[in-house]
Amino acid sequence: MKKLSANEVRKIWLDFFKSKQHHFLEPVSLVPVNDPSLLWINSGVATLKPYFDGRLNPPSQRLTNSQKAIRTNDIENVGVTARHQTMFEMLGNFSIGDYFKKEAIQFAWELLTSKDWYAMPIEKLYVTVFDEDDEAFNIWKDIIGLSEDKIFKMGRDTNFWDVGQGPCGPNSEIFFDRGEIWDPKNIGVKLLKDDIENDRYIEVWNIVFSQFNNDGQNNYTALPRKNIDTGAGLERMVSIFQETPTNFETDLFMPTIRAVEKLTTKRYSLENYFKPNKEQTQINTAFKIIADHIRACTFAIADGAFPSNKDRGYIIRRLIRRSSVYAKALGINKPFLSDLVDVVISTMSGFYTYLKDKKDIVKKSILEEETKFLKTLTKGYELFNEIIKREKSISAKNALLLFESYGFPIEIITELGERENIKVDLDGFDKLFNDAKEIAKNANKNNSVWNKQSKILTDLKVESEFVGYETLTTRNSKVVFMFANDKELSEAKQDQVIQIILDKTPFYAEKGGQANDTGILVNNDGQIHKVIDVQSGPNGQNIHTVVVGSKILLGDLLITEVDEIKRDLTANNHSGTHLLHATVREVLGNDATQTGSYNNEDGFRLDISFNRMPTQDEIVKISNQANKYIAKNFKREVYYCSLKDAIEKHNAIALFSDKYDSEVRVVKFSNVSSELCGGTHVPQTGIIEKLFVTSVESKGSGVYRFTALTTESKIQEFLEEQFSKQRNEILGQKNKFIELSKIKSSKSIASLIEKIDSLKIIEENYTKIKELVFEFKNEFKLYQKAAESEMTDSIVDKFKSLEPINNKIVLINDSLDMQMFKKISDILQNKYDLLIFEGFNELLKVCVISSSDPKIPAIDILKNNPRFEIKGGGNSKFAQGKIIKSK
Ligand code: ALA
Repeated sequence: MKKLSANEVRKIWLDFFKSKQHHFLEPVSLVPVNDPSLLWINSGVATLKPYFDGRLNPPSQRLTNSQKAIRTNDIENVGVTARHQTMFEMLGNFSIGDYFKKEAIQFAWELLTSKDWYAMPIEKLYVTVFDEDDEAFNIWKDIIGLSEDKIFKMGRDTNFWDVGQGPCGPNSEIFFDRGEIWDPKNIGVKLLKDDIENDRYIEVWNIVFSQFNNDGQNNYTALPRKNIDTGAGLERMVSIFQETPTNFETDLFMPTIRAVEKLTTKRYSLENYFKPNKEQTQINTAFKIIADHIRACTFAIADGAFPSNKDRGYIIRRLIRRSSVYAKALGINKPFLSDLVDVVISTMSGFYTYLKDKKDIVKKSILEEETKFLKTLTKGYELFNEIIKREKSISAKNALLLFESYGFPIEIITELGERENIKVDLDGFDKLFNDAKEIAKNANKNNSVWNKQSKILTDLKVESEFVGYETLTTRNSKVVFMFANDKELSEAKQDQVIQIILDKTPFYAEKGGQANDTGILVNNDGQIHKVIDVQSGPNGQNIHTVVVGSKILLGDLLITEVDEIKRDLTANNHSGTHLLHATVREVLGNDATQTGSYNNEDGFRLDISFNRMPTQDEIVKISNQANKYIAKNFKREVYYCSLKDAIEKHNAIALFSDKYDSEVRVVKFSNVSSELCGGTHVPQTGIIEKLFVTSVESKGSGVYRFTALTTESKIQEFLEEQFSKQRNEILGQKNKFIELSKIKSSKSIASLIEKIDSLKIIEENYTKIKELVFEFKNEFKLYQKAAESEMTDSIVDKFKSLEPINNKIVLINDSLDMQMFKKISDILQNKYDLLIFEGFNELLKVCVISSSDPKIPAIDILKNNPRFEIKGGGNSKFAQGKIIKSK
């Protein structure tokens, strides 16, 4: 066998198909463009959907690529099995209505076995075909000359490629036999025939004969244009050439594993594969998980998906958290993942050159997420260990607690449980999780309680101290008052939503434009209650809206824990508001008065009353100046003093017509910002990192709203989203342009597209891309009109020169839309009695148009189409329908 590096394996594949006239497609982003049905690009063909379903014509009918892909349906198998990965690369060759079964199989065989290419020994190769696909079976047998006992007929499960709606068809897979050493029980080809997971017969290539369309309801019709879609996993191919036990010992992962070894006394053991030992297996698994996850996260973040609590972001968050948990098993207790990004990038950037430009943002985003998680993880571990000391299993409630309050993904709780031989009540967890969501949803709906006059609140005099400036958690906060629906309570039961006042609380109530804290309250026996809202009562007490976990009695002593991540992010934005307010006044003058503001963990807004809209130059100045102040890393200063001192000594801006208490609180950053404010702020402005004004808009009556974000990763995340939104907006027109440009070229439109596509995703270009998209849309409207009329002319010309047979012309065209059909028919129907247009556009419509009342009604022509069975309707002059199948 040839010894090949991963880069060589990839290159040979691409070179082979280029030599067979295949057009090379650069890999595209893992984040699907304009395809909400997919969370990630999950195969090579996923990037080619519009070509496969005929929406768009490909640059060539023969294509090849090596495409990064992510599959997340079985993350928990990663590191446990030999070949599961979160991110992998799929080598592919595709035919769009060009060659089909015979050539696809011949290409595969030549590439795998020819001495000029991979040179795999023929005797090591086996294939499978779909049991109803005699054609493929015979090609393997008669044309390739493979003996029958090496061709296995298999069922639908393994040999029919079908992903619901869309093109599908039988497939043929090629396997490589790595020999008995990887089959210790010497089971042989039964492993392959019975589809048993094994390390001996490795599937190297899947060739899909895409010949049917599934309408999404499992009704299959023949595709008018047959395609070939193939996929070969790069990593497993490399593991064959490098003769490694699993994909992880290849040159794609080993550099990362070696880098992790430098951080721990533990070692990755290759021998463990042959002589397994329980403890070493766990260590190997941890290495593999980390190597896989950091690679997937590096690519995903570089492609514009950032850690968050939903969709793609949540997957990245899970991968980072899972890596942190497994790092503990290797004795690594500090943030380390971001340091591995360098190794991943140096391993992968030969082919994925753009990774180098993304290094900083990837590292930063991972470090931030990991640091945040490590804080909660330590506490979560303590709790986990307490639980398993006390109990024989992990109850649904405790699982929910670990999940919600300590950020443990549920599969990690299960994995940790398995390690300790402890079961987790997963069904119970699912139920509780859904119930909790429902309760929180309903509770939020009822929050209008604060807007009503509440007698209970007006009369309430109990003392409650806010200790949230100094701490985010207290050990013994006493429940001094509870009520629900205006009724005082001495006891609250499970799932009840109630209001609680504590003698001391670290929870910040929504006030002064700052969002409230959320978090948890914990009873002595470990039962958890969720704090979902905090508001300030008429007499100054903080009133917590709480979803009761088990039971709360008046007088109970509770542990309180504020959600630290949310608090910190909010602080960035609150301090950002102060700095922006200061620079607004510096640039616009003191006439610019703040009329309101709001900040939470996602960003902030600042409303200013002013006599006119600030100019673009002024906005840039305001924002640059605020960023200068952030970079200066001013310390936060807080003073408690009289209002007079605040204004005279500290230069504080007293906002609105607030009536202030005898003592006020001043929050100051150097001599640039000084405000009366009760909010929570960053200790130093450097923590904010960066401030970005995303918009300034008029709210009417002289009020202008600045909306802004802070921190580099939040800003980058916003930009990536906005850029992809802008690019998606013109995608339809762009594709149309590619079609129309065959008729009429337009340098200015082509250059606008080029500019929009190549614009770097940076703050400076945020306005630019919006302007370019606007300009493109306007230009395109004019262009489209001109191009379409030229197109109509050119088609009409073509028809004028055609000799009609029996006054009838049949036009078959796959790119015209219905509007174009109608236009052309209007022009031509005076010349001929009958025109029939069959359009294979995306809806597979057929349109029949005639001038005077034809002898054969249009609807009959439609129904009696000699080539297709068509379902549709119409009248004697016009009919249209859908092709159901070929006749
Ligand atoms: N689309 C096929 C696969 O992913 C080739 O296996």
